[in-house]
Amino acid sequence: MAKKKSATYTSVKKRLQINMEKGADDNLSDFTHYLQCHTNGVSLCFEKPAQKYLSNRIHTLNLAEEPDFQYFLPIKWDVPFPPVTNPKFTFIDLFAGIGGFRLAFQKLKGKCVFTSEWDKNAQKTYEANFGEVPFGDITAINEKQIPKHEILLGGFPCQPFSLAGVSKKNSLGRDHGFADKTQGTLFYDIVRILKERRPKAFLLENVKNLRSHDKGQTFKIIIEALKELNYLVFDQIIDARHYVPQHRERIFIAGFNKEYFSESLVFTFPKPDEKEMKVKDILENTPDPKYTLSNHLWKYLQDYAKKHQEKGNGFGFGLADLNKVTRTLSARYHKDGSEILIPQGKGENPRRLSPEECRALMGYPDDFIIRNIGVSDTQLYRQFGNSVAVPVVSAIARQMISFIDKNCKSEPKESKPVSKSAVAFNVLD
Ligand SMILES: C[S@@+](CC[C@H](N)C(=O)[O-])C[C@H]1O[C@@H](n2cnc3c(N)ncnc32)[C@H](O)[C@@H]1O
Repeated sequence: MAKKKSATYTSVKKRLQINMEKGADDNLSDFTHYLQCHTNGVSLCFEKPAQKYLSNRIHTLNLAEEPDFQYFLPIKWDVPFPPVTNPKFTFIDLFAGIGGFRLAFQKLKGKCVFTSEWDKNAQKTYEANFGEVPFGDITAINEKQIPKHEILLGGFPCQPFSLAGVSKKNSLGRDHGFADKTQGTLFYDIVRILKERRPKAFLLENVKNLRSHDKGQTFKIIIEALKELNYLVFDQIIDARHYVPQHRERIFIAGFNKEYFSESLVFTFPKPDEKEMKVKDILENTPDPKYTLSNHLWKYLQDYAKKHQEKGNGFGFGLADLNKVTRTLSARYHKDGSEILIPQGKGENPRRLSPEECRALMGYPDDFIIRNIGVSDTQLYRQFGNSVAVPVVSAIARQMISFIDKNCKSEPKESKPVSKSAVAFNVLD
């Protein structure tokens, strides 16, 4: 292939026969991260494995060109959410799902320099929209391989902390802190990255019950571990109902590195307008009849609800009031859709939401691709149910960036010695 001035991402994928439906090959994450970061020092982080990937593809496909990136660069990004030009800050997207955090921070001119998500189907959706394949299991990634960044983002799964490891250390007479107590959990992966890379700020998200989980023990350990890492830590439960027509309470934890921010500063989370949204505003005019419940399922749900009502329990299906917000969309919505059912005309059974409606219910833009990428409805429901309400994260992101712009000291008060590799990744042009 002759050197092109500007190959599109789609044409590069076609040429190298990259097909996410077959699953991501080894080093494809490095390759796409390299393409996204090639104009800055961060690309050094991915260069070698990306080169290996390219050489392998060219060799396997018996292509005529040299395995040289210059044949492909610069890429013309024909994806809905391409990397920003002239970024204002850098961030990493952990437990990325389908990129709800990324959408919000990228819109504010942030450059994503690393992403991790191990679910193959979520990776497909992510790649179709951002042109980047997330790395897999975060527990297997050395924190030193993660590029230096300014903001760490992550909606981590909630797990209890076992004190077993800590007691063993106690008996050995070793000191331990709160961070140690989190070892073996996915929160610990956030801790070790914060410890190594010392970003200016972070934003974490979780279910509301994180506060009460394990009698409040889990939350206490998380907050103390973050404070121990020398961050100012703020948390708030936010209901998405003022941003999207869905009752969805999530806890957000924002942190600011004390090496850059004075101890006395207070971060405030956004205060939404009190106006409530209506689910009817996001419904399709002509929904596919396949989303209408079968007689069998509708009867089952009614019988189930009746049984529990008789026992005095509140369990049951949630027939939406179209002028109000819905219940929370969960990752198990694909099972029967019972938590959010849409009433239909007289004599018709209710229906579940389509994946397109779930996209709108989570505040994702209409041009966020979900079709013809080899991801089933079941997986799409799961992905949206696991995700964040994007307008909520956007509001927090705006608040955080303005807080950083206003209060951040340019140089850390006491700089931690920075490893050689970190210096290489601290460049953005
Ligand atoms: C609550 S969801 C976060 C969704 C995300 N915030 C979004 O906007 O779509 C947590 C995600 O972490 C991923 N995950 C869990 N364990 C992981 C691991 N060890 N490595 C990478 N990703 C992991 C799950 O597959 C899931 O998509």
